[in-house]
Amino acid sequence: MTRAMSSRGEVAEREKTASRLLKSSANKFYDPDVDIDWGAPVDGDKYFVPPHRSTLYGTKLWDQLTEEQRVELTKHEFASVASNGLWFETLLMQMLLKSFYNTDPTQAHAQYMLTEVADECRHSTMFAKACERVGAPAYGPVPWLRQLAKILPLIAYGPAKYGAILIAEEILDRLQREMMSDEQIEPLVRMVNRIHVLEEARHVTFAREEVQRGMPKLGKLELLYQQLLISLVSLAIMNTLINPKVYAAVGIDPKEGRRAAARNPYWQETCRWAGERIMPFLDESGLIGRITKPIWRRANLLKR
Ligand SMILES: [Fe+2]
Ligand SMILES: [Fe+2]
Repeated sequence: MTRAMSSRGEVAEREKTASRLLKSSANKFYDPDVDIDWGAPVDGDKYFVPPHRSTLYGTKLWDQLTEEQRVELTKHEFASVASNGLWFETLLMQMLLKSFYNTDPTQAHAQYMLTEVADECRHSTMFAKACERVGAPAYGPVPWLRQLAKILPLIAYGPAKYGAILIAEEILDRLQREMMSDEQIEPLVRMVNRIHVLEEARHVTFAREEVQRGMPKLGKLELLYQQLLISLVSLAIMNTLINPKVYAAVGIDPKEGRRAAARNPYWQETCRWAGERIMPFLDESGLIGRITKPIWRRANLLKR
């Protein structure tokens, strides 16, 4: 097969997927303003994150907390994850808009990028409102990372860009999927999680295909760059999920809380579990390089 033919086939395949995703988006999407009852009471007698997914679960610090404080901690952990989700979505929207800028807008593929941006706009509003409603700050990432991450849309391209998007989306998906049907979790939080899970499935399909299409086109040096970039972005995402300030909400020194969480085998296991679906895909795609494995281990996405 000639190169032109294979690229024609590739474009047709890409358009087919994008058209299918556009159709599915038109048929099923959520408007959190309408689909969530923001006025419903949040009593605070239910957890906001399952206790076994709390960063301190199983530690001495956890043992010292009262039941009320444990619930309070999970509230702040939920707000930290949601606001970091929002932060990454904001970066992701910039990256997608940049791709759209360089693509023929009449292509279904380009139009799906805009649809995904529209989805993420609604999600980010939803996450922001959820933090406000549960009564916890929208922590977001630590300040230096918030500043540094501004370069991401400038330096990310190709499979690492979509791979990094997948890390954020699929890790969040695993955590949220578990929560959406867990009765010990606040109903408002469950609904936020459910909406996100249902809409993200399309984004995952789109990004996975982009990774698969992009990998064979990489030269040796480029591959190294892509492997390094995705591993560092993933480390940043995993490290920032829980802003250490959450611990102050239950009277724990943020530094002490962060240290305990980093050493907590239960939390390390939760991170690995959350990455269980995306990691084999990235590995098979060739995005997990031998040189970058220590970074992935540090991110708790590969066994130490
Ligand atoms: Fe989202
Ligand atoms: Fe998404």
